[in-house]
Amino acid sequence: MLLLTLESSCDETAAAVVRDGRQVLSNVVASQVDVHARYGGVVPELASRKHLEAISVVVDQALEEAGVSLDQIEGIAVTRGPGLVGALLVGLSVAKAMAFARNLPLVGVHHIEGHILAPLLEQEIAFPYLALAVSGGHTHLYRVDGIGKYAILGRTVDDASGEAFDKVAKLLGLGYPGGIVIDRLAAEGNPKAIDFPRPMLHKKNLNFSFSGIKTAVLNYVKSQDGPVEGEHLKDLAASFQAAVVEVLVRKTLRAAGENDLQRIVVAGGVACNSGLRKEMIAECDKRGVQVFFPSPALCGDNAAMLGVAGNSYLEAGRRDPLDLNALASWPLDRVSG
Ligand code: KG4
Ligand code: ZN
Repeated sequence: MLLLTLESSCDETAAAVVRDGRQVLSNVVASQVDVHARYGGVVPELASRKHLEAISVVVDQALEEAGVSLDQIEGIAVTRGPGLVGALLVGLSVAKAMAFARNLPLVGVHHIEGHILAPLLEQEIAFPYLALAVSGGHTHLYRVDGIGKYAILGRTVDDASGEAFDKVAKLLGLGYPGGIVIDRLAAEGNPKAIDFPRPMLHKKNLNFSFSGIKTAVLNYVKSQDGPVEGEHLKDLAASFQAAVVEVLVRKTLRAAGENDLQRIVVAGGVACNSGLRKEMIAECDKRGVQVFFPSPALCGDNAAMLGVAGNSYLEAGRRDPLDLNALASWPLDRVSG
């Protein structure tokens, strides 16, 4: 099946063409980062407006780059949630209009489901596997038994890991979004310079907490006589990142062990983090556990990632109605599969 996929849950307007839920023919992402950067975070109303401006251009570009016409598209998959409702509605409305006008089947896909299935666009991975979803809104561990079959094993009780990166970057005056900036600074700093807490590491459950690390960074910065800059800033970034990465890696490996899972997928924007990639690969190698990261273009928000679940659901005969609503929050274990 040749699918057109649309994503507009946050600050990226994205469209892709995916064949048979595996082959990415195009994957176009228009980022609004510059628009929101001056406000230090995503402004929902601005996000909706920018999606409206960009979506037709992005869809046309996705078709053009794939070398296909709209007549050849056989179905449409769109992010239904979770996300900003006004932003989601832009992609959803366009998807519904196209489905109606062209008499095409439509399916709404869960954003995080897209992320944790994204590596299947690049390689075969047998089910079941453990998925660590790390993004601006999520830090969750899921058992993935197949497409549409997810169980939540653990989750953050406060901030998501990407949110922690962004908040720490903001308090250090490094701009928005901050994950990538901290990643770059950390690469040149000493991760052992400052001993930040590793919250929840020794708790028996598989939950996470990141707001304490963020507060520890804030207290550290306030306790200094002058601004943290130069080598000192690099050491701080490296020490903060090391604390987040250690918790993510150790809890993920514990989850894999307790649930007897031999394969791990790490997905979402924070899966781009070089420290996380390095540590996770090293620790998985030691234990003989296979680990998969999507390539960077498939880690952050994109539409191609919706093609895996979208294709599977449409092939199985699912047809979502044209009055499908957007869902601001939507637990992944409640998707119908
Ligand atoms: O998946 P994503 O693009 O959007 C959401 O669904 O939230 O994730 C965005 C998050 C942001 O918090 C951003 O700072 C973080 O991913 N991020 C990173 C890196 N690249 C993006 N965090 C740490 N290191 C990175 N290299
Ligand atoms: Zn995302």
